[in-house]
Amino acid sequence: MSKAKKNRRNKKTANIGLKTRVKSAKGRKISSTLWLQRQLNDPYVARAKIEGYRSRAAYKLKELDEKYKLFKPNMRVIDLGCAPGGWLQIAQRAVQSMPENPTIIGIDYLEVEPIAGTIILQKDFSDEDAPSAIIKKLGGKKADIVLSDMAAPTTGHRQTDHIRIIALVEMAADFAIDVLAPNGTFVAKVFQGGTEHQLLNRLKQHFSKIFHAKPPASRKESAETYLIAKGFKG
Ligand SMILES: C[S@@+](CC[C@H](N)C(=O)[O-])C[C@H]1O[C@@H](n2cnc3c(N)ncnc32)[C@H](O)[C@@H]1O
Repeated sequence: MSKAKKNRRNKKTANIGLKTRVKSAKGRKISSTLWLQRQLNDPYVARAKIEGYRSRAAYKLKELDEKYKLFKPNMRVIDLGCAPGGWLQIAQRAVQSMPENPTIIGIDYLEVEPIAGTIILQKDFSDEDAPSAIIKKLGGKKADIVLSDMAAPTTGHRQTDHIRIIALVEMAADFAIDVLAPNGTFVAKVFQGGTEHQLLNRLKQHFSKIFHAKPPASRKESAETYLIAKGFKG
């Protein structure tokens, strides 16, 4: 065998198991093929599978917690847009919420497989009675942290998508301001160019510190960032 041929063969062998290339199937859109290819090659997806997390998003909250010290044992947590449950898993471990006295409430309009130590509501958060349903599950007590990873499905129409994103974050912020205990924390997914000055100013009035973060687990090409508001003034 020639040296060049041998080199090519060695290179091919070395690549096996490192990357998965997805052949585009008939009927599958190019965007779906690219998504599948990205999922199969994503180290966070692989890690989530090994470590038993339901979403790669779990690592975003884990990284935010490591940096901003969000959780302490026994905290009361509300997770808006919680499906499939990765953030609930991280929060449950961090605050050590137990099935006999759960202190974590999650809400999503999608069904979520139960997670011990958490209460899950299948409901649209924009329903008028959603806030009261969550507060009822918390036994009327104030929350220590409100998380929102909610994202509206995109329509492809930029302005419509922008308005829907802002509306969701504002709804989550209003709720956090209503339900948080003094010194509480609000964490929300926002999109670059999507945090309106009005919302930021409002949060500045109610919280002593505001941070913007892009955790390493958040894909670089995604416009999402996270807003962390700490020290709720009540
Ligand atoms: C990115 S996912 C959340 C992932 C989650 N943090 C995890 O780690 O598993 C966003 C979720 O927000 C939910 N969502 C969006 N709008 C909502 C609404 N109005 N009410 C309830 N859930 C909503 C979606 O159904 C979706 O499951």
